[in-house]
Amino acid sequence: MGALACALFATAVLCSAQEFPKGLLAVEPADADDAVKHFVDSHMEPRHAVAVAVVPKGSKRHNLLLELGEDEDLRHLLAIGALFKKGRTSLVVHRYHYDALAYEGKWTRSAISSWLQEVAFPPVNYLPQFAPTKFLTRNPFGILLVVKPGHHSPELAKALEPHAARLKDKLKVSFFARTPSTQQLCEMYGVRSSDEFLLIERPKEGGLAKGHSHVPKSPKYRVENVSAADVDLFFKQYESGQLPRYLMSSKAKAEPQIQEGLRELTGWDFLEVVQDPKVSVLVEFVSEKCEACEEFDAAYREVARRVLHRKTQRGRSPSLSRVVIARIDQSANEHTELIKGTPWLRFWPASAMKKPVEVEFRSVDTILDFLDEQEMALEDSEEEPRKRKPAKEL
Ligand SMILES: *[C@@H]1O[C@H](CO)[C@@H](O)[C@H](O)[C@H]1NC(C)=O
Repeated sequence: MGALACALFATAVLCSAQEFPKGLLAVEPADADDAVKHFVDSHMEPRHAVAVAVVPKGSKRHNLLLELGEDEDLRHLLAIGALFKKGRTSLVVHRYHYDALAYEGKWTRSAISSWLQEVAFPPVNYLPQFAPTKFLTRNPFGILLVVKPGHHSPELAKALEPHAARLKDKLKVSFFARTPSTQQLCEMYGVRSSDEFLLIERPKEGGLAKGHSHVPKSPKYRVENVSAADVDLFFKQYESGQLPRYLMSSKAKAEPQIQEGLRELTGWDFLEVVQDPKVSVLVEFVSEKCEACEEFDAAYREVARRVLHRKTQRGRSPSLSRVVIARIDQSANEHTELIKGTPWLRFWPASAMKKPVEVEFRSVDTILDFLDEQEMALEDSEEEPRKRKPAKEL
């Protein structure tokens, strides 16, 4: 007699691990293949991986499966079912669009668990239904979201597969469609178009900062309109560190906003501005629902106005000519800084090796004095090498 147990981990309709094996679907041995096929087909969504074990009922291996059924690290990765049968045991993982894989290792909990975690991710995951916990919120690996309008492209998958295989310990690859049902995920992870590659190194970290502090996230990279022919180049640039980092922003890319000398930075231009060696940048980090930010707002705007005035004044040497006064709302824009609370001021002096310094001052005059001192110190340090130059040439 064979019997196919209900899925150990699955969605609502299936029995829980505790109920197992009460909800058994009894089948005659002759029906077993059909029952397995039906079980696999009906549990493939949404995780695209189903494990089926053949074990004697009440055996040690049966008990091991029950333990695995309670494993929180596996639950979101695949469904597991068991067919009770005396004799030879087996464990096979069926994956959407790829060949099934049979387990050949030892029957120990840790060995099976790590094997399941490995094989539950197919080389390239196809739609139709996306599993956010498996690929994003609880994914211990990186993820490359291949965002394309259609369901999938075999040509693109073929171009991706060798890279997915090479990087499988670091990165998983999945097709993804931008639709009304994935809109929230798109906002959370920064998918902005229907045709892009979005590589997220630590998807478990989630989206934009909540509250008033900000912890920098692992890198993300985003490239639009990548076709099968561009896939090799994409990976080459990614692995050699040539892709620019992508910082999320709740708004689409737009022209820089500058009001009375105050520049609003976004995820789109934060790095470009603070890393620009030709300018010195003072950045105020703010967040939403921040009373202290509101209190400080008028003073900071005054700083921006005065700096603008000093830059544009005629007849005097424009002393703060390369200073940029900027602000970034970190509730709507990702950046690369560790910020413990808002409002926070950090200053990047103009130089090739920009190193930021904290600015503790909070009054208009003390901030302006600080800027003057910084710019004078920079001027001195720039003059010295020039003076020394002839000596070096001797
Ligand atoms: C990608 O294609 C879309 C539609 O053709 C176009 O609007 C967009 O500008 C393209 N993006 C890049 C970076 O070329």
